[in-house]
Amino acid sequence: MAGIAVDAMPVTWVVHFLAIAGAVMVLVWNIHFRGGFAWESSDKSLIFNLHPVLMLIGLIIIGGEAIISYRSLPLKKEWKKLIHLVLHAIALILGIIGITAAFKYHNESSIANLYSIHSWMGIGVIVLYGTQWLYGFVIFFFPGGSLALRAESLPWHVLFGLFVYVLAVSTATLGFLEKLTFLEASGLAKYGSEAFLVNFTAIVTVLYGAFVIISALARRPPAEDDSGYTAIEG
Ligand code: HEM
Repeated sequence: MAGIAVDAMPVTWVVHFLAIAGAVMVLVWNIHFRGGFAWESSDKSLIFNLHPVLMLIGLIIIGGEAIISYRSLPLKKEWKKLIHLVLHAIALILGIIGITAAFKYHNESSIANLYSIHSWMGIGVIVLYGTQWLYGFVIFFFPGGSLALRAESLPWHVLFGLFVYVLAVSTATLGFLEKLTFLEASGLAKYGSEAFLVNFTAIVTVLYGAFVIISALARRPPAEDDSGYTAIEG
């Protein structure tokens, strides 16, 4: 990838900072304001609370760090590739558990499933994310495609990966909007501290996504083993 005219490394520090801010904010919201978490409980809202936390910290934050690992780590290509695919696997697994929590909450509270644009896009995101991971694993890691297939697949992998990621950030933003709207409809103060916290968490999420994309398109640090095929590595 050619890269935009900015060095990736300083931008990746902004990404790390926003990652910590977003993680702290979603945890404070769900622990301090929403009462914490449970997998089994008579208070079903505690099951739901796992959903935003796992989706943001898992799919969005760890997934974003996975995307920028080629830009943020001063390591050899093989190490970066391993870290990239393992972080994406963790993001995907936490995302699947997070979506399972949303379904579990709905089912145990006799609420319908899949009635919103948020939930429809959410299913699309997790299916595309899983497909992208599997294709990447088979072509670039094991058993690995021919050099020609890898070179041809790479720009598609980068484009499709960034597309799915933008879709994930949009879906999370819709999720914050939907949950806050439910809470406000049942009495939460529209200009209260919790409402501000949720909206600012959504803003940090969008900024995080923006800086992940900038990092991914920026000039990566030269690796010790740069040459040939690696020069077009995403
Ligand atoms: C990319 C991240 C996310 C994905 C892929 C995702 C996916 C989903 C899916 C598939 C459902 C449907 C569950 C069912 O129908 O039983 C759902 C429900 C829900 N999610 Fe998310 N979610 C994400 C992030 C968030 C965030 C950050 C929030 C913030 C609170 C949130 C709030 C909700 C709410 C309120 C519901 C229940 C209402 C509904 O089904 O639309 N989601 N989510």
